[in-house]
Formats: sequence, C-alpha cells, structure tokens
Amino acid sequence: MSGVTGGSLRATATRIIHQVVHQGQSLGQLLPPALEGLPAEERGRLQDWCFGSCRWWHRLNAELQQRLHKPLPKRQGLLESLLILGLYQLRHTRIAPHAAIHQSVETARELGSHQLTGLINGILRKSLRDGEPEPGSEAMRHSHPQWLMAKLSANWPEQWQTILEANNRKPPMSLRFNPGHHDQTSALAALADAGLTAHPGQLAAHAIQLDEACPVDRIPGFNQGHFSVQDEAAQLCTELLELAPGQRVLDACAAPGGKTGAILENQPALAEVVALDSDRERLGRITENLERIDANARLVAADAGDPGAWWDGAAFDRILLDAPCSGTGVIRRHPDIKLLRRETDIRDLADTQLRLLEACWHTLATGGRLVYATCSVLQQENTRIIQRFINGHMDAQLVPITLDWGIETGYGRQLITGERDQDGFFYACLEKNPAHWA
Ligand SMILES: C[S@@+](CC[C@H](N)C(=O)[O-])C[C@H]1O[C@@H](n2cnc3c(N)ncnc32)[C@H](O)[C@@H]1O
Repeated sequence: MSGVTGGSLRATATRIIHQVVHQGQSLGQLLPPALEGLPAEERGRLQDWCFGSCRWWHRLNAELQQRLHKPLPKRQGLLESLLILGLYQLRHTRIAPHAAIHQSVETARELGSHQLTGLINGILRKSLRDGEPEPGSEAMRHSHPQWLMAKLSANWPEQWQTILEANNRKPPMSLRFNPGHHDQTSALAALADAGLTAHPGQLAAHAIQLDEACPVDRIPGFNQGHFSVQDEAAQLCTELLELAPGQRVLDACAAPGGKTGAILENQPALAEVVALDSDRERLGRITENLERIDANARLVAADAGDPGAWWDGAAFDRILLDAPCSGTGVIRRHPDIKLLRRETDIRDLADTQLRLLEACWHTLATGGRLVYATCSVLQQENTRIIQRFINGHMDAQLVPITLDWGIETGYGRQLITGERDQDGFFYACLEKNPAHWA
C-alpha cells in the first residue's frame, strides 16, 4: 500500500476514499498503515471520516452529481472524494460547517488543485445553504447500490428496510470471554474494574457487549487471551458445531482465525484442529491469534476445494465451512462493501461456495457434522446453496436449528442484520448419514 499518507488528515482521508471508490481497495487494507503513529484523537477522526464517507457515499454522490454542472476532469478525481468527505461532514458530523468548508478548500490547494478551490467552496456553501435534497429512490435514501437494494427487497420483502437501516448504523463492539479464564460474572466484573461498562450478549453463551467501543489494550487480560473481539453472530458458529472431546475438527476457511480460536477455547480436549486457508498471508494472522490465547492448530495453506492437495484421508468429525461471501450481513462494520462488491461477484461467490461445500463434505466422517456459515444475507449464497447441495447428496441430512433467533428458511437459519442488534449471518447444520438409495 502506498500513497495515502502524508499531508493533512483530510488529504489522507481523501486519498483513502478515492482508492476505495476507484481502485477497489478495502478500508481494511488502507486504514491500518494510515492510522499507525497517529494520536488517538486523530485516529478516531480519520476512521470516522473514511467509514462515514463510504457509508453515505451513494447518497452523497447523488447529491454531488446534481450540484456539479459538468463532471470533474478525470485528473481531478481526488476532488470528488474531497467533496464527498466535505458533504459527509456537513450532513452527518458536528464539525462546524464553516470549518469543514474552509479546510476542504485548503486541502484542495494541498492536493495541487489551486484552480478549483472556487468550485469546492461554491459547491459546499450551496450544499450548506440549500440543505440535503430529497433522495430520488429508496436505494439513494438508504445509500445502497441499486442492485443490492433490489436483491434485498426481492429476498426479504418484509425485512429489507430493517436491513438497510441497520447497515447504516454503527455496530456494537462484542467480545468473547475465554471460558478457560472467566465465566460471565467474572468477565463482566473484570471489565467493570477496568472502567468498561458492558452487558451479556443476547445469543451466544460467551458473548459480552461493550456499551462503548474501546481500543483492545484497554480490555483486561486481552494479551493473555482472556477476551477476544468477535461478533456475537460469528460466535454462534462454534456452538452449532456441538464439539466434544476427542473430535477431529476442520476449520476450512479459517483465516484470520477468529473462529479457530473460539473452537479451541470452547473444547480444549479436541484430538486435532486443522485450520485451512488458501491465503498464505492471512494464515499468518491465525498464528498470532492462537498464540495470544495459547492454543494450537495445524495450519495448512491450501484450496479447501481441492482435498487431493491437502487431505491425509483421516475423516473429520466436525467441519466448519465459514465460506468466502459477499459480506452483505456485515455492511455496518464494513461500509466499503457497498462500494467494492459488484452484482456479478455474487454468482461467482455462489459457485465457489458450492464447490467448497462439495469438497469438504467428502472429508467428513459418517455421523459427522458440517456447519456452513456466511456473513451474507443473500439467498443466492445461503439457502440456495444448501438446497442445491441437499438435492444432490442422498447422505446429507439438514439438522434443524431450533433456537429463538433468526428466521428458519427451510434450508438453514438466517439472522437478519439489525435483529437484536446482531450482524446478518446464515447457518446450516448438515449431518452425514450412511448413503442409502431409496
Ligand atoms: C469469511 S473469511 C473466514 C473468517 C474466519 N473463519 C474467522 O472467523 O476468522 C473466508 C476465508 O476464506 C478463505 N478462502 C477463500 N477461498 C478459499 C479456498 N478456496 N480455500 C480455502 N480458503 C479460502 C479466505 O482467504 C478467507 O480467509
């Protein structure tokens, strides 16, 4: 990564937003190096500016295009992101409007666009004076790409507005306490002693929700593995595995290892955990995460869809397939997904998901259980994958998830984003019966 840092904070934010929108890079890639070394207050501001501008980009850009009488010259592309940031500040933050406008003009100068400072000043002043225009469509109102809004409303005729609204809210910070160190009471007490107010999670046994997000170094015992940061919906995957001592477990798409860690904490007496991921670099992050909680897994860099390349033939009793997906259930945590994902990605992802499920199934023991999970709310990646799979596999039995959260789809359980303040997540439990022919 290069070329986002240097200059004022606003110039850095402008470059980051530009790289997300025009170069397909994620905030997850761009922000960490840009935040390094900044004082806490500036870190918070930079994150808020980048997240907020991406969260509201579709709506703010519709306004911007209305206000520009002709498109900005291509070589001035950065100014578009500078204006989106300025509009974000006028519409969604408490920054004094005149300061936001003045600093935007100064930043245009800093970015070498001296001749366009008048345009920046004019557009932002007019936006301030006129107020926000009425959005032209529901997609614009909720600041989503049209294709995504169409899919959500077709998939969830009763819930799509809840999903869109939840996607634009800031998410809670959830922790998982390590049952080797804490129970719920001692976990809450330890957090309270550290000045952090929190309450038990609503769905997962080891979940704690902080009342306010904080840096991990304020969490007591974080470096000793007493707590991990993990969304509550993600924690449910481990519970659905119904782990028991002596089992051989495959975590098929494991990096960065959040769920591998939860599996090992949840059942320390497993025979073996194999943590597989095709991305060698991301695999390294599993090592860091497991070292912190003092746990071990066998790490393998390979394509889960090609067991011939990595499988030793010993069947697994439990498999977690936390499949690569659109991330449409976690847009509130990663608002850049709205800018990065394309409609055509969904079909490609669905092909990969089915391919991985087919391959992993092959390595599951008879009587074993596979949990298929995604952080997507699109049926193409969820119920339809399970439906297609079940139809082609006489030895696969869908185990109903009879809990009081989410929607039973007939092919797995769907948590809708925002339901009980959770991320959107999908889960299906499949068990392998001896093959029989009717
Ligand atoms: C949803 S993320 C997994 C998150 C992880 N389970 C956790 O809880 O921290 C999906 C992962 O699948 C990996 N992946 C994508 N295609 C794969 C493949 N063909 N084989 C194995 N891993 C794959 C990606 O590198 C990514 O790390």
